[in-house]
Amino acid sequence: MDKLVALCKQRGFVFPGSDIYGGMANSWDYGPLGTELKRNIMNAWWHRFVASRGDMVGIDAAVIMNPKVWEASGHVDGFTDPLVECKKCHERFRADQIDATKACARCGSKDGFTDPKNFNLLFKTFIGSTEDNKSVAYLRGELAQAMFVDLPAVLMTSRKRVPFGIAQQGKCFRNEITPGNFIFRTREFNLMEFEYFVHPSEWEKWFEYWLEQMKAWLDFCGVKREHLVFHEIEDGERAHYSKRTVDIEYQYPFGLKELYGLAYRTDFDLARHMEASSAEMRYTDPKTNEKYVPHVIEPTFGIDRTVLITLLEAYDEEQAPTSDAGETDTRVVLRLPKALAPFRVAILPLSKKDELTAIAQPLADLLRQKWTTDYDETQSIGKRYRRQDEIGTPYCVTVDFDTLTDNAVTVRDRDTMKQERVKIEELEAYLCQKLCV
Ligand code: GAP
Repeated sequence: MDKLVALCKQRGFVFPGSDIYGGMANSWDYGPLGTELKRNIMNAWWHRFVASRGDMVGIDAAVIMNPKVWEASGHVDGFTDPLVECKKCHERFRADQIDATKACARCGSKDGFTDPKNFNLLFKTFIGSTEDNKSVAYLRGELAQAMFVDLPAVLMTSRKRVPFGIAQQGKCFRNEITPGNFIFRTREFNLMEFEYFVHPSEWEKWFEYWLEQMKAWLDFCGVKREHLVFHEIEDGERAHYSKRTVDIEYQYPFGLKELYGLAYRTDFDLARHMEASSAEMRYTDPKTNEKYVPHVIEPTFGIDRTVLITLLEAYDEEQAPTSDAGETDTRVVLRLPKALAPFRVAILPLSKKDELTAIAQPLADLLRQKWTTDYDETQSIGKRYRRQDEIGTPYCVTVDFDTLTDNAVTVRDRDTMKQERVKIEELEAYLCQKLCV
């Protein structure tokens, strides 16, 4: 984990936020490479679960919703973590994460802790210039509620039929008591999830279906099955809205913890919103004329946790030759799935001489129209290969002095380190074969 965090900072995947002011605890900014990786993940997810399917539509809703939404959904009363406070230093801890008979982890006091109190995780704010009860609002704690309250409008405008889903990606906010472990738990985080509306009699079938789809997505992200645990959450442990939940847990370097969740939310949310707002949330089956409140299966995917595990799975170190004389050193390589790599291609002229850069620069500009393409002409070619390996670039293309006569370039594969000579006019088709999958 330490090595990965260092690499992320050094290479500009993720670094501490507000750094020039000394940073801010648990605030992280995605740098240029991290932003590309995150976007690739979000785009691949959107394509897989929304754009390529006929039974799914997307929305992009406001972060600050009418507070009545959060009252009706149960979040104002029920979205809590149990919290205890050290009697000496007043540091707060999640009651389920400490042993209250032991000393305080912050000050070492053995005075003990207060009784657990429920601490609401919703981020409260005020609309406008007055700070009274009438102007209270909340930053959204989950994406789901917009998909529920927008259901009538989506049904009317999209003309979708049950079963179908509404998806969304975006920021959520939770006043977490114990943020930490890099981007694993933060107070503002990125989420992608959908609500899949089904006939109540079919929820079990769809629950199993979406569990399999979530597994397939994790395969795509390069996650090994042996690093995952599918944890059936017991009665009494589930969120207030759920009748069945499977937490997909991942074996992080800091322990087995939640990655994603799959919940059967029944008609809890729609029924609550129908009661609180008087809006019609029932669906009329056009074939049978049956009128019912749809039930909901909800697969939810933390984006930051996806970035984290994709990097953890991809990080590799191996001994690799540094010269023909058989010397080796440690090669750090991010074996990212090709579709997710921040740069898909790097163009590396062997020297900075004009005759090479005159070919290499336009080539980079051409490839950029199709794939994210890095261009680097500094340092030795060996060092440049290693730099691209560290950021996971699947293909490096070297323009050398032979290029001037044979009009060909050398393409090096990140994983095998094998090199192939390819004619410049065939390069795009060659890369397409490797990358357009
Ligand atoms: N709509 C359901 C829902 O929000 P959740 O289990 O509370 O369910 C969904 O959160 C996902 O969001 C989690 O599985 C996790 O991937 C991610 N997540 C939750 N809290 C987070 C935090 N503080 N920082 C980063 N990711 C978080």
